[in-house]
Amino acid sequence: MADETPAAPDLHIDIERLLTRIDALGQIGRIDGPNGEWGNARLALTDADRAGRDLVVGWMRELGMEIAVDAIGNVVATRAGSDPSLSAVMIGSHIDTVGTGGRFDGNLGVLAGLEIVETLDAAGLAAERPLQVAFFTDEEGSRFAPDMLGSQVYVGGLDLEQALDVVAADDGARLGEELVRIGYAGDVECPTARPPHAFVELHIEQGPILEADDVTIGVVEGVQGISWTEIVIIGQSAHAGTTPMRLRHDPAFCAAAIATYVRDLTHHLGSDQVGTVGRIEVHPNLVNVVPARAALTVDLRNTDERVLQEAEGRLSAFLEELAESEGVQISTTTLARFEPVEFDPAMVDLVETTARRLGHSTRRLSSGAGHDAQMLARICPTAMIFTPSVNGLSHNIAEFTEAVDIEAGANVLLQVVLDQLEVG
Ligand code: GLV
Ligand code: MN
Ligand code: MN
Repeated sequence: MADETPAAPDLHIDIERLLTRIDALGQIGRIDGPNGEWGNARLALTDADRAGRDLVVGWMRELGMEIAVDAIGNVVATRAGSDPSLSAVMIGSHIDTVGTGGRFDGNLGVLAGLEIVETLDAAGLAAERPLQVAFFTDEEGSRFAPDMLGSQVYVGGLDLEQALDVVAADDGARLGEELVRIGYAGDVECPTARPPHAFVELHIEQGPILEADDVTIGVVEGVQGISWTEIVIIGQSAHAGTTPMRLRHDPAFCAAAIATYVRDLTHHLGSDQVGTVGRIEVHPNLVNVVPARAALTVDLRNTDERVLQEAEGRLSAFLEELAESEGVQISTTTLARFEPVEFDPAMVDLVETTARRLGHSTRRLSSGAGHDAQMLARICPTAMIFTPSVNGLSHNIAEFTEAVDIEAGANVLLQVVLDQLEVG
């Protein structure tokens, strides 16, 4: 538990400076919608990701931080402490986005970290412990599965060589080659040899709970389990007019049946089970051809590992029945599988007491989205702070969080970091 008074009660972040950086980073890979909404496409290790990385690294340098790029392209900037033998307090998140992402998802956590460094510097507040701001490679997993790839390698949960060999879903590029191409194949050892003292991630909620409850700060207790499967169906390509229905082996029909089954499954297993078919591809994708092949992804999530396993088991049984009844071949590949994670109870308490001390309403919740913090939780005490998402939207260019909520979240982050740095 934290002390009764904040470490440096008069210290506040500069919201205009933070918003200016969020806006500037958002200009890279900017996507404009029809009604003034705008977001980002900076898929991992694309040219846009490189430009975003270069901008953020430039800011880190301007703040006098020491930059380290590791073998999977994670970037860790360090504000020196007076005792370099102490492990660092780390603030981190990601700056890659999904192909139709918002400008806050991930970016907020990284740029709030820089804002805290600048706030401490401006106040002349030194610490014995180093303070680090990190962004991890390919958190989104949209281009290179799994998600949280960089932070998973960082904590030793995924083999470096295996991660470098991952092939992109869209263009077939190899992750390791893309890292070299964009200039972020670093030489620092990964997994890390120096686990942080503590890790804190500020993130938008990306869902509707805080807004519905009119609460400013989400105290994140953990992250639900995630299961991603790619399913490939091979059937028989045929003429759409001449082939009787009883003779068809139609992968498009099977893909649709799987999507329907996933929806039914979530109803059957209850409200905490979510299921998404986010990608469906059909070949040759022509109006008058029964397709030869379909590929689709299924994303299943639950806070309860047992129920998640049941969902996986039922889906797999359904695929077997479908292959048999439709006379098609169905194969599956696991793209990501993470069990539910619980954050360190003392860190969760610290976020809650800090937010309340600063006068904010709070609510405990579990994260529906995956985060780098769930990987860092494997190697050090970890916490997350959520701020509300307008209309609960994220992974959508209309994603938005009010400035007043960003300011509240960043000030909570500041005080939590000061507590962990033992400054004040
Ligand atoms: C990653 O952000 C995910 O939750 O899919
Ligand atoms: Mn994110
Ligand atoms: Mn995301």
